[in-house]
Amino acid sequence: MTRITVTVDGSTYSDEVEPRMLLVHYLRESVGKTGTVIGCDTSNCGACTVHLDGRSVKSCNVLAVQADGHEVTTIEGLATNGELHPMQQAFHECHALQCGYCTPGMIMQAIDVLNENPNPSEEEIRVGLEGNLCRCTGYHNIVKAVQQAAGQGATEDATAGAQS
Ligand code: FES
Ligand code: FES
Repeated sequence: MTRITVTVDGSTYSDEVEPRMLLVHYLRESVGKTGTVIGCDTSNCGACTVHLDGRSVKSCNVLAVQADGHEVTTIEGLATNGELHPMQQAFHECHALQCGYCTPGMIMQAIDVLNENPNPSEEEIRVGLEGNLCRCTGYHNIVKAVQQAAGQGATEDATAGAQS
């Protein structure tokens, strides 16, 4: 077992973990952040996407020990004082979800896309989200939501809410 200390959504956690434990399992089972979901466990679907030091990663493709000393933001760290993050609000308003299983990862990836490029074209949004699969094939409204969020200048660092 290895002791790791990780800041998740603004709170610090220190836990003993097996060296082989995946970050997604650590977040769900040790920290209790079940908003981050597992869609495939083979790094194909992106449902498990979180931010590690502000950049999106597929947390089923990262070991928990690799997050030692770093900051993780999950979907549960985006809302601030009861206010949805602008990207969450845009997904809501554009009906960008059906079953919602892909949504946490889509939103985390979409924020990263806008942090990289605040004014992406539709094509650039689609390329930015290509590592995230929606089994409901709801892609059109997802892209519309990202366009709406971009139009509203929703480019702030996703970790800002978690740290406030
Ligand atoms: S669960 Fe991580 S990419 Fe599918
Ligand atoms: S809304 Fe069902 S998987 Fe995307």
